[in-house]
Amino acid sequence: MSLIKQEEDLLGLWQEETKEDETKQTGKISLQNLEVDIDADVAEVVPKEDIIPVLKITESAPLKRQTQLQWAEELDISCPVTDFEKKVPTMAKTWSFELDTFQKKAILKLEEHANVLVAAHTSAGKTVVAEYAIALSKRHMTRSIYTSPIKALSNQKYRDFRETFGDVGLITGDFQVNQTAQCLIMTTEILRSMLYCGSEVIRDLEYVVFDEVHYLNDSERGHVWEEVLILLPDHVSIVMLSATIPNTLDFANWVGATKKKKVYVVSTLKRPVPLQHYLYTGSKTGLFLIVEEAGKFIESGYDLAHTVKQTQKKQKAKYGSKEGKAHLTPKQEATIWTVFVAQLRKEDKLPAVAFTLSRHRCDQNARNLTTVDLTTGSEKSFIHRFFNKSIQNLKEPDRALPQVVALQDLLMRGIGVHHSGILPILKEIVEMLFQEGLVKLLFATETFAMGVNMPARTVLFDSIKKFDGCDVRTLLPAEYIQMAGRAGRRGLDKTGTVIIMCKVDVPGMKELENMMLGKPMSLESKFRLTYSMILNLFRVEMISVEGMMSHSFKEFRHLSQQKKYEKELETVKEKMKEISSNTQQQGLHWKSLSDFYDMAAEYLQLWSEFRKEFLAEPKYVKELTPGRMLLISHKEHINKLGILLSLETIKKDRAFRVLVLCNDEKTRTVDYGDEIQLSVASSDKEKSEEQYKPDPLWYKMLGLANKKKIFVPDEVGGHTILTVTTDDIIDIVKNKVSVDTNLVIQDWEKRQISRFRDDPPGQTCSQAVQRLTEFTKNVSSGTVPLEFVGPAKDIHLKNFDVLQKLNDLEQKLNDCTSMNIANFEQLFKEVFRCKQLEQKREDLLYKKSPRSLSLYPEFKERVCVLQELGYIDKNNSVQLKGRVACEMGNHELMITEMVLHCVLADKQPAEIAALLSCLVFQQKRKTEPVLTETLKKGVRQIEEIAKNVECMERKYGIESGHDKLNSGLVEVVYEWAQGKPFCEIMQLTDDVQEGIIVRCIQQLNETLCDVKNAAHRIGDPALKQKMQEASDAIKRDIVFVASLYTSEDNPKPSL
Ligand SMILES: Nc1ncnc2c1ncn2[C@@H]1O[C@H](COP(=O)(O)OP(=O)(O)OP(=O)(O)O)[C@@H](O)[C@H]1O
Ligand SMILES: [Mg+2]
Repeated sequence: MSLIKQEEDLLGLWQEETKEDETKQTGKISLQNLEVDIDADVAEVVPKEDIIPVLKITESAPLKRQTQLQWAEELDISCPVTDFEKKVPTMAKTWSFELDTFQKKAILKLEEHANVLVAAHTSAGKTVVAEYAIALSKRHMTRSIYTSPIKALSNQKYRDFRETFGDVGLITGDFQVNQTAQCLIMTTEILRSMLYCGSEVIRDLEYVVFDEVHYLNDSERGHVWEEVLILLPDHVSIVMLSATIPNTLDFANWVGATKKKKVYVVSTLKRPVPLQHYLYTGSKTGLFLIVEEAGKFIESGYDLAHTVKQTQKKQKAKYGSKEGKAHLTPKQEATIWTVFVAQLRKEDKLPAVAFTLSRHRCDQNARNLTTVDLTTGSEKSFIHRFFNKSIQNLKEPDRALPQVVALQDLLMRGIGVHHSGILPILKEIVEMLFQEGLVKLLFATETFAMGVNMPARTVLFDSIKKFDGCDVRTLLPAEYIQMAGRAGRRGLDKTGTVIIMCKVDVPGMKELENMMLGKPMSLESKFRLTYSMILNLFRVEMISVEGMMSHSFKEFRHLSQQKKYEKELETVKEKMKEISSNTQQQGLHWKSLSDFYDMAAEYLQLWSEFRKEFLAEPKYVKELTPGRMLLISHKEHINKLGILLSLETIKKDRAFRVLVLCNDEKTRTVDYGDEIQLSVASSDKEKSEEQYKPDPLWYKMLGLANKKKIFVPDEVGGHTILTVTTDDIIDIVKNKVSVDTNLVIQDWEKRQISRFRDDPPGQTCSQAVQRLTEFTKNVSSGTVPLEFVGPAKDIHLKNFDVLQKLNDLEQKLNDCTSMNIANFEQLFKEVFRCKQLEQKREDLLYKKSPRSLSLYPEFKERVCVLQELGYIDKNNSVQLKGRVACEMGNHELMITEMVLHCVLADKQPAEIAALLSCLVFQQKRKTEPVLTETLKKGVRQIEEIAKNVECMERKYGIESGHDKLNSGLVEVVYEWAQGKPFCEIMQLTDDVQEGIIVRCIQQLNETLCDVKNAAHRIGDPALKQKMQEASDAIKRDIVFVASLYTSEDNPKPSL
C-alpha cells in the first residue's frame, strides 16, 4: 500500500502496514514505532560507578560531552577491557597482535549482535572490526557483505579476505567472482540494486560492513549510502567504519532510529603512530617542525621557516632571479626534487608518498628525476621479474605502450606514479610493489589515500593547493588528514613524518593551522531523489518514496519531531473537545462570529502580503521618512495615529519607531486574549511565557471589528514609542509633522531609565505629542479629513485583482453586524480560540505528513515527468518504459528514451558502443573527434533526446542535474570496438590519458549490459543480441585484463 493515499496520517499508516508485512514476509523493512523521543535524546550517560577513578587529583575535570542519544551510545574507550578473554573465551578470529581497546569494545558489541560505528584515526586498525564481523557470520553459517566506495579497495580487500577466510566473492560493476560465497565484497551501488530486486543474498545476511562510510558526504554518490542504510532489513547488523568525524553520535543516532536498534560508537583518542609535521624550504637545513606529536602548532618553527625562505628569496633576487614568481621552471623543479630525495634517503625517511594533486604534475615530477636511483641490484631484478610476470597477459604491442615502458623504467629505480590516468593494471603493480617497500618514492593523487592500507614512513605535499573542479583552493582539514594519515607504519615507524614543500613561498600561518588542525567536515546528508529510485520504489512497494524521504538523514529532524507533534496534536484535540462542549450556549451567534473570523483572517492575510510588496516600492519608501503620520495597529495599540520617528533594520526586516498616544504615560497592557494563546508548550516555563503573550492576530481582528475607528485617548499627554513592522502599518497618512524626531527618541529613552522615570517630557517631545493629539482629535471629530498615500488611488495593474479582492472583503467586513452583538469580545474570544486551535491542528497534521518534507515538491515534480513521459500511469503503476529505466544504473531516462526511440536499433554494435560513450565520458577535449556520418547523426539524435528530457523537466520546474553530453571519446571507442589495437587508438588522442580511456570503456560496458537486460525485459532479442556484440567488441585486451588482486595465479610479490 502506498503512503500517498493516506499521507494525512503517516505514522498510523506505517504501523498498520508493518504489522501486516511482518507476518507476511521476511526481508521487508518494518517502519514501526518510528518516533524518536526528543527528551531522551538529550539524556547523558551517567558514568557507571565502577569506572569512575577513585582519585583524580592530577586529572583536570573531564569535559561534559554528550555521549548518548536515544539510538546511539558512545563507548568509553579510556578504560581498558580487563576481562576480554573471559567475556569472549573463544573468539571467532584471532590476530597475532594484542587488540587495542577500541577494537575489543567493538568486538564485544558485535558478539551481542549490535550495530557499531567505528570512527577511528587513519591506520588505527578498523579492518579488524570488519574481519571479526565476517568471522562471526562464518561461525553462524550466515552471510556477510563488505562494501567499499572504491574499486581498488574492494579488489585489495578481496585478495586479503580470500587469504583469511577462503570463501569470499567479489561483485563490482564489471567483475564478478564466486557470487554465492559466504562473504561478498561489493560496491555500495551493487548492494543497493540487490536490495531493490529482493536478491536471495539478503535473506541469510547477518552483517553488512560499510568501509569508509564517511563517503556519505560525497556529493555525487553519497546518497547511495543513505538509500542502502534505509533499505537494509532490520535483521541485518550494521558495521560502519569511518575516519574521525565531528558528528559521529548524530549520524549513529540517525542510523539507529532508522533501524530501531541502537548504534554503538567507538572512537580512538589518538593515532597509533603519532605524526610530526614539517615545512621544507628547500635548503639543506630546511626542515622545520611546525606541529608536534601531541598536535600542538609550533609558531617558532613556522617563523624560522618563514625567515629562511625570505632570506633565500632576497639572495636569489641579488643574483638576478625574478622575485614573486608563482611557479618554478621544470629544471628548477627537477633540482629541488633531486636534492630533496637525496636528503630524505640520507635521513632514512623513505619510503615516501608525495601527494601531487594533479595528474600532469605527478608524471612530470617523476619524469624529472632522471638521475635518481633508489633501489639495490637485487631489488631491481625482483621488480623486473614481477613487472614482466604481471603484464604477461597483455598483448605484445600493449606491453610496448609508452606508459608501460616509462613506468617500468621508473619502478626499476624505486619511483612510482599512481593516479587515474595510469592504466589500472599498472596501478596495481605500483600498489603491490609499494606494499613490499620496493617503491621508495611514490607520486600520487588523492585517491591513493582512500582506505587502501598503504602507509609510508613519510608523506610529502608537493603543494597544499588543489583544483576542485571550480577553484584552486587550500586543502580542507579532512583532505589533509586523510593524506597525511598515510605517514607512519604501525610496528615499523615510531612516528610518521609529514612534510609540506614550500618551493616558492611559505603558506600563511593561519592557512596552515586551519588546514592541519581544523575540524574535519561533519557528515552531511547528500540524499536526493532520482527517477530510478522512484521507479524502483513504485515497483517493489517495500517502502514508499515518502517513507524513504522521511527516513533520510536529511529529514532526520522531521522524523525525530514526530512524537512531539503527536503530543501537541493530542493536546489540541482535547482543547477542541472542551471548547465544543462550551459553545452550546453561543449557538445562536457562533455562525456569524465564525464568518467574521474567516473574513477577517482572509483579509489580514491578503493585506499583509500586499502591504509588504507595496511598502517596498520606491515610491512609498520615499514617503516613509521621519515626521510622517501613520495609521498603525500594533498589539493592543489598535487603530492609532502615530508619528514616524526613525527606520531601522532588524533581522533583515524593516522596523519603524513610531510615537503613539495612550491613556497612560506608560504602555498599558490590555488583557485581551491572555488566555487565548494555546498552552501546548511542554515545560512549565514555556507554558507561563506563552500564556501571557497576547496574540497579535487577536488585536488585528479587534481593530477590524472596530471598523478602523481611530483611537482617541481619554487623558492628555500619555504617549509611548513603539517599534513596529510593515505588518502593523495600516496606512501612510498624507500629513507630515515637522519635528526633530531624534530629540523625541532621546528624550523618551532617557525617561526609560529608572532615575529619570518621573521627569516631565522635554519641550520637543511635548510639542510632538500635542500635535499628534490635536490631529487625532480633529480627525476623530471629522474636522480634518484623513487621507492616505495609498494604493487605492494609485492602483498598479499587477495588483489590481488583489486590491479588488481586498476592497470586496473590506466592504463585507463593514457590512458585518456580528460586532454589534452584546458582549462581542467575550463571545468572539471563544470563536477565536477555537479557530486558532483548528489552524494549529491543520499545521500539525501538515507537519506530520510527508507534504512537509523538503523534497516533497520535487518528488511530485518528478512523478509528473515520469507520468507525462509514460514511465508510470496516473496511478503511479510502473509501465514498460519504467521497467526499462529500472534496469539502468545511471542516465535512466536518457538511455530508456534512446532505446524506445530506436536510436540504437538501426546502428551497428561498434556504433552503439561509441554513441553511448557520450553519457559516460566527462573530460573536456581540446580537439574535435572525427566522426562518420552515421555517428554524427547518432550524436545529433542523442542531443535531441537530451533536449527533450530537459524540456520536460523544466516544464515541471526541475533543474536538470544531468552531466553535459560529451562526444569527446566517440571516435576512440568506435575504433576500439572495430578492433584497433590500444596503441593505435591512443594516437587518436593526445589529451586523454590511458587510464581514463580504460575506465570509460569499462563503465561503458556496464551501460551496455544494462541495455542488454532491458532489451531482454521488453522482449527485443535483436537489440539484446546487438548489445551483446557491442559488449564483446569492447571487452578485450588491456582494457579488460584481469585484476592482479583477483586473478587466480595471484602474483603476490615477495622478495
Ligand atoms: N591492535 C593492533 N596492533 C598492531 N597492529 C595493528 C593492530 N590493529 C591493526 N593493526 C595493523 O595496522 C595496520 C592498519 O590497519 P587498517 O588498515 O585496518 O587501518 P584502518 O583503520 O582501516 O585505516 P584507514 O583509515 O586507512 O582505512 C594494518 O597493518 C593492521 O594489521
Ligand atoms: Mg580501512
